[in-house]
Amino acid sequence: MSINSNSKSSEKLENILIIGNGGRENALAWVIEKNEQIKNIYLLPGNAGSTKIHKAKNINLDLNNTDELVNNLKHLNIDLVVIGPETPLANGLGDFLRENNFNVFGPGRDGAKLESSKSWAKQFMLDANIPTANFWKVNTFEKAKEIILSSNNPLVVKADGLASGKGVFIAETKEESLQASAEILKGKFGAAGQSIVLEEKIEGPEVSVFALCDGNKFVLLPTAQDHKRIYEGDKGPNTGGMGAYSPTPIITQNCLNKIINKIIQPTIDELKRKNIEYRGVLYFGLMITKSGPKVIEYNCRFGDPECQTLMPLMDKDFVSLLHKCAMGNLLINDKINNSNKVSGCVIATSKGYPLEYKTGFPIKIGNIDTKDLQIFDSGTSLGNNSETLTNGGRVLSIVCQGDSFDEVFEKIYKNLKEINFEGMFYRKDIGYQVRSNKNLEN
Ligand code: AMP
Ligand code: GLY
Repeated sequence: MSINSNSKSSEKLENILIIGNGGRENALAWVIEKNEQIKNIYLLPGNAGSTKIHKAKNINLDLNNTDELVNNLKHLNIDLVVIGPETPLANGLGDFLRENNFNVFGPGRDGAKLESSKSWAKQFMLDANIPTANFWKVNTFEKAKEIILSSNNPLVVKADGLASGKGVFIAETKEESLQASAEILKGKFGAAGQSIVLEEKIEGPEVSVFALCDGNKFVLLPTAQDHKRIYEGDKGPNTGGMGAYSPTPIITQNCLNKIINKIIQPTIDELKRKNIEYRGVLYFGLMITKSGPKVIEYNCRFGDPECQTLMPLMDKDFVSLLHKCAMGNLLINDKINNSNKVSGCVIATSKGYPLEYKTGFPIKIGNIDTKDLQIFDSGTSLGNNSETLTNGGRVLSIVCQGDSFDEVFEKIYKNLKEINFEGMFYRKDIGYQVRSNKNLEN
């Protein structure tokens, strides 16, 4: 949908609303606060981390009660809405708020389809000749079986719709591909698995690239690398992300140019060709294969924990860029002003995550060296006595910046020893790709 620009074009930027309750939103609030124009940052619903940000305040409104939402946001004089997670974007919250005259950073339902329908995203890439793994969309087990049995290698199986990051099976054998297809098509992920995407398995290191888009132009954030698996050595089930670092040395300038020319610019062009005015962040999940960078997935939001890793590298003008994207007026010479430091992040999780876990445990934080180190709240809540309690699978994001990754991760792991809650777990090898001191815990 092209945006009928009745959204505000005012330059005023005092009151911000951030939708979401994770580490990503906590980090966004933290960087937005740096800008002296900003007076109030409302988080809907936010988490206990908001209490550590002077200008931040959690609010509780029902996103489905649209009249109440609009009335409250008008009353709060919101100048910019930043939508963090994919679900409200996929449900059209961006469209709705724009129709009600708000400046929104976040695509409409049409642009969010890049994340909410894997088959749609794959067809989009095919239309634009964007490098990605070969794929087949199917909605019956018979068809899946025919394709799996006739392929040379086991195929990756993906639920087509949103499945909270759990809908992807990397099969080692054809039997596993068949089993995953059967389970998903039988309803393991509900409507998200009414159809599946079978994909050729590709190999190589993964990188996350983020482009802030205003519908026409874009600016790039530094590259980042996530660690998706729960256990050291990239073993065990996939999670939302156990840690990250930025920038990624494997992305040389030459490689980045290739990514821009073959993937990012063609994506922006294809969105325009499809009459989709994308105002928000486009997250390219890439794999750097032997035959060059390929898109594994698109997301319509910032990555988590990449966002926590990147925000401390941004300056106080970051929020102005979000605002310009929301208004559709990035300037040709706009760019991200990031520090030349490197950044790392380690996530502390609840025992049992990403499967079953308990919450409600008090979090104790001892003597932290806060110079260039942040503790962002991911899944936390405030208890009756204003104590911080665990309230999710991923609980805290410990982030640090420095001149070298060795320095950064040494400091993170040292400070993690000052943090404690029942069942706390974290990977000890985050950043192993860029560290020389790999045994910080021994
Ligand atoms: P997604 O939810 O699509 O990002 O997939 C989750 C993870 O599965 C990715 O980060 C990759 O590690 C892996 N993956 C997805 N698609 C493929 C593929 N075609 N080949 C190999 N690995 C894949
Ligand atoms: N860190 C991966 C994601 O946000 O999807």
